[in-house]
Amino acid sequence: MKTKIEPFKIKSIEEIPITTLAEREKYLEQAFYNPFSLRSEHVTIDLLTDSGTTAMSSKQWAAMMDSDEAYSGSRSYYKFEDVVKEITGFKHVIPTHQGRAAERILFQCFDVTGKYVPNNTHFDTTRGNIEFNQGIAVDFPNEIGKIPEMRADFKGNMDIDALKAAIEKYGPENIPLGMITVTNNSGGGQPVSMQNIRETKEVLSKYGIPFYIDCCRFAENAYFIKQREKGYENKSILEIAQEMFSYADGATMSSKKDGLSNTGGFLVTNDDKIAEKAKTILIITEGFPTYGGLARRDLEALAVGFKEALKEEYLAYRIGQVEYLANKLLEAGVPMIEPAGGHGVYIDAKRFAPHIAPEFFPGQAICNEIYRLSGVRTVEIGSVMFGRKDENGKHIAPDMELVRLAIPRRVYTQNHLDYIAEAIIETYKNRESLKKMRITWEAEFLRHFTIRMEYIQ
Ligand code: F0G
Repeated sequence: MKTKIEPFKIKSIEEIPITTLAEREKYLEQAFYNPFSLRSEHVTIDLLTDSGTTAMSSKQWAAMMDSDEAYSGSRSYYKFEDVVKEITGFKHVIPTHQGRAAERILFQCFDVTGKYVPNNTHFDTTRGNIEFNQGIAVDFPNEIGKIPEMRADFKGNMDIDALKAAIEKYGPENIPLGMITVTNNSGGGQPVSMQNIRETKEVLSKYGIPFYIDCCRFAENAYFIKQREKGYENKSILEIAQEMFSYADGATMSSKKDGLSNTGGFLVTNDDKIAEKAKTILIITEGFPTYGGLARRDLEALAVGFKEALKEEYLAYRIGQVEYLANKLLEAGVPMIEPAGGHGVYIDAKRFAPHIAPEFFPGQAICNEIYRLSGVRTVEIGSVMFGRKDENGKHIAPDMELVRLAIPRRVYTQNHLDYIAEAIIETYKNRESLKKMRITWEAEFLRHFTIRMEYIQ
């Protein structure tokens, strides 16, 4: 059969709000033209994030009912630990309430004060946790990863030469650990090849620097390796994931992505000393090591979810869904990071609305117009999120101005995707009418969450 289908049927449904244009205009005004400030009951299709927005399976719900809520030594923890060990192979498994808690603990264990932590591209919470501990987060994405319209198989790769040069420049004694993020979320959800992971490991271990993977989307990355990298065609997704982890000394995970659950995370490591310190911090800040701030039923959902995320038919549907949406948009000429990423489509706002300079927030103007037209919520990843001002108050723009359409896992049907595509294509056709924006209020840190904006008339 040529027609690809969702590899599940629907047992329980959740109504979505259908709103009018006039209502949406009012909601946007009330939200100060910041999609983060919209109430989700006013959002028809929510593409703000793929994190914690997964639909769980009946097997996950069944496992949750059967959880053991013991504070210590819970049977549910051991189920979780067994699955995480089988996939990652690490000696110590430390559960956390979400990914950033694992990051916080990791950077407290490694003394990063005044030191450098390289990555292909740090996610903003990873960067935030390093900087909060007075460390310096440095990004080395490969060159092709910075050019949206250039197609390549592994645009998430680390620039190995830049990594080597940085180690020589800063000195290995000033690099307590190195990281790689799979897939590279901030760079468009692009995959990292096995060869690149191996080379990163080789370079870091030559200098005695520990290597950790930010592995939120490890199953999606493994699927891309199977599809695109020579020698992996006949390996199972589990085998590929196991090989990815085999090169690392540890990993941090936000299980809200490829754990196919609504919350959770972990820190894994082979280092006994790091594990001991991490567990002490965990007890003080998250919870006992056999639950780490989670209800034990969440550990049950994750033990099942990790396995479901590794199923090839699920991944073919998942990545296929993102590709389906991307192809519809590309046919209509919508500029984006090509090829599509694993968890979403990243529209290139610079080419979409070239008449709006970065300091007038083209991505935010596009997000607002998509919502106004359709009730679809997307997120700006550009000058609102990462823009800065120099000492003269002049806008410093990030490399790319993007609008991310993050696709929640197992939530929306192909018909929903057609609706999303129509909204974006319509916005693109009328792009010349998109208006410049300005900030009317902003918080000191992570301003995008609460920022207030208006159109410049
Ligand atoms: N690392 C990466 C690559 C991420 O994408 C995220 C979260 C985290 C770490 C932090 O995990 O949210 O569980 O604390 N990304 C979400 C997103 C929020 O929308 O991309 P967390």
